[in-house]
Amino acid sequence: MTTIAVIGGTGKEGKGLALRWANAGYEIIIGSRDAERAVMAAHELNATLGNTNVSGLDNAAAARTAEIVVLSVPYEAHAATLDMIADGTQGKILIDVTAPLDPENKKRALHVPEGSAAQAAQVKLGPSVRVVAAFQNISYTHLTDLHEDLGCDVLVCGNDKEAKKQVIELAKAAGMAAFDAGPIENAMVAEGLTAVLININIAFKIKNTGIRVTGVPRD
Ligand SMILES: NC(=O)c1ccc[n+]([C@@H]2O[C@H](COP(=O)([O-])OP(=O)(O)OC[C@H]3O[C@@H](n4cnc5c(N)ncnc54)[C@H](OP(=O)(O)O)[C@@H]3O)[C@@H](O)[C@H]2O)c1
Repeated sequence: MTTIAVIGGTGKEGKGLALRWANAGYEIIIGSRDAERAVMAAHELNATLGNTNVSGLDNAAAARTAEIVVLSVPYEAHAATLDMIADGTQGKILIDVTAPLDPENKKRALHVPEGSAAQAAQVKLGPSVRVVAAFQNISYTHLTDLHEDLGCDVLVCGNDKEAKKQVIELAKAAGMAAFDAGPIENAMVAEGLTAVLININIAFKIKNTGIRVTGVPRD
């Protein structure tokens, strides 16, 4: 089974994705700025699942050790975290979950100079890394309940078709339908939708809005 590093996997979204992939049998490495915090999060997930396939390392080592790297940190930490994992991600797929939100007001999408967080990641990591943007519209509250039928979809943007195919498979393994939503330039749309969903969450005093693509054939 593929080894997946979840950078920021000590946090809400990353831990939820890690839980779902660990449950599906993938080898998971939680990455953190603090290796001890990563190990604690890994123990928590192993205990929840009754498995032993989750381990924890510092961010750089996690990226170096894994075959696929997932980045799930607040946008404020995006550039600094990419610097930590740049060496370890060369030649690999990086799945960017980051949704840039205005730190002054999380109800507002943030304009990113490169176009999107995913494009910023591509610029920083260079052409050998296949950056794919995905999962930005999945509330962590869905991920933590393994029995929940999520009902929401994942938009997958990137320039490498084969990499997107692998990410669509990972979404499926985590219980979600995912769609190839085009090139990395479209990542700004998926990332921006997160701010839209936060506004709807606040209006309805809930935490779990998501999106669903209509009109497509489903299995
Ligand atoms: N929460 C959701 O439901 C949700 C839904 C869709 C998309 N997203 C997106 O997913 C990403 C992660 O969200 P989250 O809610 O999981 O975030 P979070 O829990 O606040 O943070 C995730 C991890 O990022 C690291 N981190 C936090 N602040 C940092 C900083 N200033 N510098 C360096 N590292 C820092 C921390 O790991 P260590 O301290 O262990 O290094 C933390 O555990 C965000 O871009 C968010 O917009 C979240």
